[in-house]
Amino acid sequence: MSILKLVEYSIFIGKADPELSQIISQDNYSKIAILVDENTRQHCLPVLLKNIEIEHSIIEIPAGEQHKNLSSCRHIWEEMMLQGMDRHSLLLNLGGGVIGDMGGFCAATYMRGIDFVQIPTTLLAQVDASIGGKLGIDFNLVKNSIGLFKNPKAVFVNPVFLQTLPESEIWSGFAEVFKHALIADADLWHDLQKVTSLSALDWQPLLARSLRIKKQVVEIDPYEKGLRKALNFGHTIGHAVESFSFSADKPLLHGEAVAIGIVCESWLSNKEGGLSQKSLEQIAAFVKKRYPSFSFQEKDFPRIMEFMKKDKKNRDGRINFTFIPEVGKVEWDQYCEEEIIRESLRYYLSI
Ligand code: GLY
Repeated sequence: MSILKLVEYSIFIGKADPELSQIISQDNYSKIAILVDENTRQHCLPVLLKNIEIEHSIIEIPAGEQHKNLSSCRHIWEEMMLQGMDRHSLLLNLGGGVIGDMGGFCAATYMRGIDFVQIPTTLLAQVDASIGGKLGIDFNLVKNSIGLFKNPKAVFVNPVFLQTLPESEIWSGFAEVFKHALIADADLWHDLQKVTSLSALDWQPLLARSLRIKKQVVEIDPYEKGLRKALNFGHTIGHAVESFSFSADKPLLHGEAVAIGIVCESWLSNKEGGLSQKSLEQIAAFVKKRYPSFSFQEKDFPRIMEFMKKDKKNRDGRINFTFIPEVGKVEWDQYCEEEIIRESLRYYLSI
């Protein structure tokens, strides 16, 4: 087990049952509820409860991003009230990004805020969503448009939960792992290029390396005024392709879309930001080998561009990007002409 200490909380990486027991008992909470969905209730809750004793109640919501909304929040708040949770209660969020973001949001607003602990169970949530205090829900079809920043009491990242996931979900989370390498750690990128199979991976040190990068970024810039925008690399085009994939009824996993976004935004970084041709080709080859190819056509570009124009990072109607001028370095608040952006989509289709 390793521990990453941030100013307000710690991230425990690996098996940390005694530490979790201590966090739960040290504050003498009046009530503890565990937020789950039907998947984490079946596959992850028994793993969690095997080695620690928690007097708890359960709050269950349906799984899936489509339930990350106000009506689920209403259900969670109602359950918290029905179960007599007061200001000195604790919510344990056991699940992926939806559970962590929405459970954290409900905890942070219930009775003006109660403690919550993140126990992320997907790779995506373990390396990204559970760290950095971004909480929220989707509203009027806009992702994460209602929310706030608030840090949890602690985060427990246990790779044991990855065994409950299909391989495509793990590759999806892996997109955030290699994004962290591309923006901040050329050595990690070098090592990741050797990873072709997930089965033999030693997760704990890899999670620690990836999380150290996110920790450093969010500690310097918790409210995304500058450096934290580095984490958006691949996400401007990634989010647009993800939204397009849903609207075209061929849904991509978040990380699959981000991997496409990383290829396109690496192409933009090459054309406009100085990234070498060799690095661009390495990144494209990495994605091509590990992620399913997603087919769309020139006639789909206007819809993809429309989604990009709605991105909440944009300023004055200009589409905002983060570039990597070389692997391990970032430049944020970059803007491109629309034709150049379309050209980057053509590059993805050509590889
Ligand atoms: N997922 C990007 C961030 O936490 O800022």
